[in-house]
Amino acid sequence: MNTILLTTIIITTLVVLLSLLVQQIRRALLPDRVVSILVNHSRELPAHAGSKLLDALASENILLPSGCAGAGTCGLCKVTVSAGGGSVLATERGRLSDTECERGVRLACQLTVRDNLEITVAEEVFTAQHWNCTVTSSRYLSPLIKEITLELPADAEFHFDAGAYVQVTTPPFACKFSDFHVDDRYREQWQQMNLSRLSVQSKVAETRAYSIANDTQDKRHIVLLIRLALPPQSTDLPPGKVSSWLFSLQNNDQVEISGPFGDFTVHDHHRPMVLIGGGVGMAPLRAIIHQQIRDNTSQDIRFYYGARSLTDLFFQQEFDRLAQSNKHFTWTVALSEPAPNDQWSGERGFIHEIVRQQFIDGNPHADQYDYYLCGPPMMLKAAIAMLKQAGIDDAHIYSDNFEI
Ligand code: FES
Repeated sequence: MNTILLTTIIITTLVVLLSLLVQQIRRALLPDRVVSILVNHSRELPAHAGSKLLDALASENILLPSGCAGAGTCGLCKVTVSAGGGSVLATERGRLSDTECERGVRLACQLTVRDNLEITVAEEVFTAQHWNCTVTSSRYLSPLIKEITLELPADAEFHFDAGAYVQVTTPPFACKFSDFHVDDRYREQWQQMNLSRLSVQSKVAETRAYSIANDTQDKRHIVLLIRLALPPQSTDLPPGKVSSWLFSLQNNDQVEISGPFGDFTVHDHHRPMVLIGGGVGMAPLRAIIHQQIRDNTSQDIRFYYGARSLTDLFFQQEFDRLAQSNKHFTWTVALSEPAPNDQWSGERGFIHEIVRQQFIDGNPHADQYDYYLCGPPMMLKAAIAMLKQAGIDDAHIYSDNFEI
């Protein structure tokens, strides 16, 4: 009996000592203490050591843009850290250029707050407006892309620069793809992909960034191009939450937005431009093209757009009309995998290759243009590599890389 009692006491003592040790180690690594974050040299906020900077700022109502829910993939949550941030992490490298790393730019969703911090965030974070908008139109542009038009509340006006984006915030929701209205033209493709089996839900609000696709002159509406984010086939991963929710919307539904954000805007109105896009990367480029044409630019605007097949191509008539009526605007489409019944007689191949063949190679003036790129990550990577290889200076390549 004494042996059993003694053993019990020893084991209990060991467990208590071990748990105390674990707590000490945890405290040493992630001290449960409050540190301070000095924002833009003026506002001091408390933050719990161990929290992510993105969350710490959000809890003080400083809502940085986020297009990936803190996964470190969209690159929208950038801040500049001037003191206390430690070294750039491997998980940030993919979204930061060497110059940004040298300047102290960090991804707030990856940075763990450990000590007092001094940071700078874009002023637009404080000036962004918040609206509850009404869906006035939702239409399919291709099997997996919808154009959604939002109207601002009565008397409200939204001022933005072409190329800017807004953040869309969902309520907690659940939706089934089988309840979606699918355009007759694409019903067969939806059946082939067996999309009606999918469903998605979120118990919390979700926020994602989407470029504004309409002309800046229309201050009452915000037009978004939404690509339904599907999981890779043969996986059990869920579809994209916010794109699914946006696909489920119908006229008169409400959408919470904030903005405008972003610096993917025309940097020099006196230089000619080449715009290269794919997928819903069309959105900011379309807004830029309309703005430039309406401002009566006397500079060249060359728009190159890549799609897989004809069914993925939209706004064709609109850009054909613009090209016919404006001598400074040209546009070229290339299909990478035209379907047999597309009867496509235009360019074939990847769009960066078409730009190289038709515009870059042998052109002594190529370095006098500014290059604006928006589209899927692979397309952007290939296009940027091609431009750099052709000797185009980094300072004249602008890209918006959060097509999601
Ligand atoms: S929220 Fe930080 S990279 Fe997307």
